[in-house]
Amino acid sequence: MFDTNIFQKLRKFINNRLLKTPGVDFLKKNKDINDRKKHINFWINKAKKKKSFQKYFFSRIDNDNCQINFNLEDNQNFLISQEMFHSLSNNGLLILENILPEKERYLIIEFFEELKSRNYTKNRWLKEPNNPNFFDQVDEILGETKIKHFKKLNYLSNQLTKEIYGKVVEPTVQFRFLNQLDSQEEKQVKGATYLHTDRFLPHFKIYYSPFEITVKDAPLEYMISSHKINDNFINYYLNARNFDETDRLFNNFKQKKKIICVPQNTLYVALTNGFHRRTVFKGTGSRSLLFLQFVQRFNKLDYLL
Ligand SMILES: [Fe+2]
Repeated sequence: MFDTNIFQKLRKFINNRLLKTPGVDFLKKNKDINDRKKHINFWINKAKKKKSFQKYFFSRIDNDNCQINFNLEDNQNFLISQEMFHSLSNNGLLILENILPEKERYLIIEFFEELKSRNYTKNRWLKEPNNPNFFDQVDEILGETKIKHFKKLNYLSNQLTKEIYGKVVEPTVQFRFLNQLDSQEEKQVKGATYLHTDRFLPHFKIYYSPFEITVKDAPLEYMISSHKINDNFINYYLNARNFDETDRLFNNFKQKKKIICVPQNTLYVALTNGFHRRTVFKGTGSRSLLFLQFVQRFNKLDYLL
């Protein structure tokens, strides 16, 4: 029924346990500032050697480059322009509206319908979708599949990985349907609904929403340009305890925050070594969001070799 084989399981194990790009685990275990310094400097020096990372993560912020939203209605070739890439590098966020052809959007909606009805088509899902239990009050169902089902989305993802990582990287593709049945406002959850960073090394995610996302649908919030790895950024990691907005040095980040409400058929990219969070549900509501991530296939070896 589900499209998983032993080889995929083994690869996932090796990628997750042995080769994963460092996150904040080492820093959580080592509070000594000199140990942290050595660790952070080692990995950041490796990252600096990549030309594409220089542009996206180590260059200075240009306050005049602030257009984040682009409408691709007339863009029939699905090419991401240099102007859009510059905007992403500068702001850490890029929003592309009217991105996919209707046929592909409908196919994505069909996948979400399967999640909601728990009625799965053979060979569409890598394993049986489940609730990863990240949230206390919100029901989530997460299904993983292959990018091969979505041609244009794959083409866009390839352009982004080539540009940011310097090579095409296959994404893990996760459909996540969130459903809040409680009419009360959701309480905040660490690592998700507090502003936090995913890691101190270059990192990014692609999100696609087939439907409109409003403030009621727990949209992502992102602190503009907080992904730039500079002295302020490194100093924060040397001293942080919680790696979120509750750390004292978070107050040194003064940039604007943006809540990402989007029309239907929008793709957005966020450089998530910068500060971000899912905003909380204010009452009942739901959200269908597709996530493309690369941490499984762009890993330690890409930094070390
Ligand atoms: Fe995150």
